[in-house]
Amino acid sequence: MTAEQYTSTVTVTVNGDEETHEVPDRKLLVHFLREDAGCTGVHQGCVVGKCGACTVVVDGTPMKSCMMYSAQANGKEIMTARGLGPKAEEEGVALEDDGDMLHPIQKGFKENHGLQCGYCTPGFVLSTYGLLSENDSPSEADIDAAVSGNICRCTGYNSIVDSIEWAAEELKAIRADTGAADD
Ligand code: FES
Ligand code: FES
Repeated sequence: MTAEQYTSTVTVTVNGDEETHEVPDRKLLVHFLREDAGCTGVHQGCVVGKCGACTVVVDGTPMKSCMMYSAQANGKEIMTARGLGPKAEEEGVALEDDGDMLHPIQKGFKENHGLQCGYCTPGFVLSTYGLLSENDSPSEADIDAAVSGNICRCTGYNSIVDSIEWAAEELKAIRADTGAADD
């Protein structure tokens, strides 16, 4: 005999697009994003809140999507790493059209060897987005605190800190050039 499964209709906005799906009440947000919304760039690691691979931005705040039921995200706005470029444009941060149109945070990881296998990277860049949204000149301690919930098994972290420092400088320079609001 199987336990009765209760379902709910969940509507979230993911990178600007509305997603509505009928899902079991116990479905985690990470599984909703990957299986129902097609966001396979949201990575699933430990599923117990320890690795940070599943981090997404929910209503402006980085959250571990394995720590929320999808029903708890109903009505909320979610950004995955794929949404960083469009978000930059929305915030008045001009992206350099050098073929890849990467957000300065993504570019920071690329330029400073902040990734190897890349499994942890979406989580790291979104935690970094949360940090740099509130603090445009983070100290190394600020950076350590912001990514303390993210685990990387490849890079050894020094290059990740370098990547975030690079991104902070780059974002400040772009904002100074374009006069974008520093909010
Ligand atoms: S998969 Fe969510 S913290 Fe590891
Ligand atoms: S780059 Fe491989 S886990 Fe971080």
